[in-house]
Amino acid sequence: MKIFLANAEATLNLGITLGESLTAGSVILLEADLGAGKTTLVQGIGKGLGISELIVSPTFTLINEYTEGRLPLYHLDLYRLGPKEVAALNLETYWEGIEVTPGIVAIEWAERMPYKPDNYISVHLTYENENTRQAEITAVNCEISELISTIQID
Ligand SMILES: Nc1ncnc2c1ncn2[C@@H]1O[C@H](COP(=O)(O)OP(=O)(O)O)[C@@H](O)[C@H]1O
Ligand SMILES: [Mg+2]
Repeated sequence: MKIFLANAEATLNLGITLGESLTAGSVILLEADLGAGKTTLVQGIGKGLGISELIVSPTFTLINEYTEGRLPLYHLDLYRLGPKEVAALNLETYWEGIEVTPGIVAIEWAERMPYKPDNYISVHLTYENENTRQAEITAVNCEISELISTIQID
């Protein structure tokens, strides 16, 4: 489904809705150009989970983990990596939640992934103009329709 995002706050609010309602093991794959709002959306997810720490894009650290919220948030940014380097990260560790506490996995630049989880939520963000964006959300082998229907579009 497509959601019109009138400003950065709308993107943040979409993230908050996701953060409040997603269950442990959810994977959000974000694909969008630089500055389209991926990190803004993840900041909302963090807020929705009850994380007060400032969420910044892990462009150089690859992954930031936040554990103070309802569920752990694993925030990854693959911008600087190629598919082989991404494969070497064994990202399934995060979504399988066997060696780590199951939580929410949010991945910026998911375009770089050579393989994807069986179940995930895909979010494509595109520019409309300076302050507006469009989010196209697709649930792949998972259910988010109930959650999405609660989103207020302003
Ligand atoms: N509708 C919108 N949604 C998200 N960000 C927006 C929007 N309008 C303007 N912006 C601005 O665009 C920038 C998006 O940056 P960021 O979230 O870091 O993008 P990305 O992680 O995709 O590179 C922020 O400065 C934000 O304030
Ligand atoms: Mg970013």
